[in-house]
Amino acid sequence: MSPPNTDSEEGSVSGGNVAATLEFREATKRYPGQDEPAVDHLSLEVPAGEICVFVGPSGCGKTTAMRMVNRMIDITEGDILLDGTSVRERRPAELRRQIGYAIQQIGLFPHLTIADNIATVPKLLGWPKDRIDSRVDELLELVSLDPHETRSRYPAQLSGGQRQRVGVARALAVDPPLMLMDEPFGAIDPINRERLQNEFLRLQQEIRKTVVFVTHDIDEAIKMGDKIAVLQKGGTLAQFASPAELLAYPKGKFVEDFVGADRALKRLALQRVRDVDLWKAPLAREGEPVQGLRAKISDADIDIPLLVDDAGRPQGWLSKRAMSGERVTKDLRSPAHPVVELDDILRDALSDLLESEAQYGPVVDEHGRVQGVLSLEVLAHALQIPPDQVPSGADAAPAH
Ligand SMILES: Nc1ncnc2c1ncn2[C@@H]1O[C@H](COP(=O)(O)OP(=O)(O)OP(=O)(O)O)[C@@H](O)[C@H]1O
Ligand SMILES: [Mg+2]
Repeated sequence: MSPPNTDSEEGSVSGGNVAATLEFREATKRYPGQDEPAVDHLSLEVPAGEICVFVGPSGCGKTTAMRMVNRMIDITEGDILLDGTSVRERRPAELRRQIGYAIQQIGLFPHLTIADNIATVPKLLGWPKDRIDSRVDELLELVSLDPHETRSRYPAQLSGGQRQRVGVARALAVDPPLMLMDEPFGAIDPINRERLQNEFLRLQQEIRKTVVFVTHDIDEAIKMGDKIAVLQKGGTLAQFASPAELLAYPKGKFVEDFVGADRALKRLALQRVRDVDLWKAPLAREGEPVQGLRAKISDADIDIPLLVDDAGRPQGWLSKRAMSGERVTKDLRSPAHPVVELDDILRDALSDLLESEAQYGPVVDEHGRVQGVLSLEVLAHALQIPPDQVPSGADAAPAH
């Protein structure tokens, strides 16, 4: 809990990994002169440390809903509670200092260095200089920028993606219990966008902030969210659910159309190879007794042995001839292709299999050692896993 007292403000935001709960209670916004509310009786709860994504078509009230949280926009009716306390009882200036805010246009000050940009709020709070300096370095490292190289540059001297990272670092400067992010990666090219998304998810595994993330891109919502709030025109909540639940059981035609016809494939994007039960392959080494390999075959899920080298890396699928003598010879029927990694998402693994016209492929760990076999049957089975057992948000992010 952050006491609503400015004197103790510094203490409340410096105490390590704090995260707040956030609750919308029938929150409503009517702009003057508009017939229809921009946000209409929005009710939902975001547990501490989770990412909640607001998604929906343009003009459905995402930005308005988000900005009511830090009172950049006044709430017309209803309430929003931060750690159980109404934001209406907090002074807006103080509230804004305690809530990290990152937007698409980034909003870095062009005439200030990167270090000074990140230090904006700590300076406002009167932190001592050495504390600010070390915090800036820590944050730059956190967002994968070299402090030495970046500190004294100006925003115009960085790429769009690097500026975006500085924006995230600045939003995190005072270790806020809540982060608001409005289309933060919207203006970035697809490759860097994916990189920034992955980076942010990895960062979130560490910092576990409560995050409200706005996007109009359903794929980004599915990737980033622990929970997704789908808003529709007039600011009404069409569905509030985990990504897997949303894809498995979209509520009504609007959500069904919005998530798209390929929602089964999108579900495969939520799971990684390491999350599913792989097949066991009989692993063979050149020169080993054929007798022993036959025993391994009867114990495995497929009857074609996979030749591995001394380090356990896949070499290829063995032919019958390879087992015609007493010892295994390096006689391959086909190469070990495609090779799938434990960290791959299932959708990519499926597309690798299809491209190679293969029914299955060896799965390797980060050292390239075989850990099992991924097959089309295993993938079909993964689609049957109930939505509540599919990880989401930062929990679904790659382990390294
Ligand atoms: N200051 C304002 N005065 C009057 N109407 C506004 C104001 N700001 C937004 N609106 C209206 O409120 C509705 C919701 O706007 P909002 O910006 O929250 O949508 P959004 O979901 O963030 O859209 P986008 O995806 O385009 O960013 C829209 O119909 C918009 O025209
Ligand atoms: Mg918006």
